[in-house]
Amino acid sequence: MNFDHIGLLGIGSYVPERVMTNADWSELVDTTDEWIIERTGIRERRYSSDDQTTTDFGEYAGKAALADAGLEAVDIDELIIATDTPEMFFPDSASFIQHRLGMGEIPAYDLAGSGCAGFIQALDVARSRAACGDKKVLVMGIELASKFFDWEDRNTCILFGDGAGAAVVGPVEADAAANHPSILSLKTGTDGSRADILSRIAGGTRMPFSMDVAKKGLHKLTRMDGREIFKEAVKHMCAASTEVMEMAGVSSEEVKLFVPHQANMRIIHSVAKHLGAPEEKVFINVDRYGNTGSASVPIALCEARDMGVVESGDLVLCTAFGAGFHWGAALLRL
Ligand code: ACO
Repeated sequence: MNFDHIGLLGIGSYVPERVMTNADWSELVDTTDEWIIERTGIRERRYSSDDQTTTDFGEYAGKAALADAGLEAVDIDELIIATDTPEMFFPDSASFIQHRLGMGEIPAYDLAGSGCAGFIQALDVARSRAACGDKKVLVMGIELASKFFDWEDRNTCILFGDGAGAAVVGPVEADAAANHPSILSLKTGTDGSRADILSRIAGGTRMPFSMDVAKKGLHKLTRMDGREIFKEAVKHMCAASTEVMEMAGVSSEEVKLFVPHQANMRIIHSVAKHLGAPEEKVFINVDRYGNTGSASVPIALCEARDMGVVESGDLVLCTAFGAGFHWGAALLRL
């Protein structure tokens, strides 16, 4: 299938107002600003207010992407929401967001459980759906992690932030110079043998919700082998990035900006080093937002564009890795 005429028509993002600094965390758990900065590079992150939900975040980011594309909600043919922090267990968040945005009675569905790789996976699906029907697909990564992590577990709580990012994927007007927006190449992958390394174990069929689950807090993010994730994240983001550059016949020198998943400054630096990408070509905002899961790549992409770091026609390489393990990379021409 020819994907050359499929590109990003618009992007948008949202981060909530409430700022939680490392100093704030050090008053709640046994940690310090120095430890967090040294091990993760995170200085602060944003959290939703008590009354905000996944649908609210989807509304803000979705409207921003639609405005950027010059489109109305009724122009969209399909909606895909990547999230591990849904509005409720069922129905899916896409149902609520489709209604909130005032979209037509289009196919709308969640892509859940792929952790921080969710947006790239959703982009992969959206690209195919757009290409086979000349459709405009609204894709979002949304996380309100603050509602699901354990506020007493210093190993995990300091890492995550809330946010949402969105993109409209669809057919573009091809120009003679082949300089039109395009998803030049895209690669996703999964290694399910590592599924237990990062998980929220209770609430599903393996361990249905119960009073015991609630007492032990097992419905929260409880399992994370940080060191193993670190190694696997670097390995897979590097391999996927190399593969998409090879698929498109593009060298790392030709890439204007690398936008890796914002999990941890040390992971980002390792990926950049392996790819031979100089510091100034790697976008970083993990210091301000922490790890916003599936929202991290689209938030970073929006910021880079809004700050003027990249502009139309530039090649941008996005890559992500998350629970599952799932990973992916996408080479975009803006
Ligand atoms: N403050 C102070 N000490 C802490 C904290 C904290 N917030 N958290 C853990 N520690 C302690 C540990 O308890 C441990 O103490 P111990 O030696 O007495 O047992 C000590 O610090 C060192 O722990 P390490 O595991 O060696 O620390 P490491 O250098 O590996 O850093 C970290 C931990 C930051 C979690 C790192 O492994 C990492 O970032 N891994 C990736 C995890 C990740 O990104 N998860 C998000 C989802 S997946 C994704 O987005 C890719």
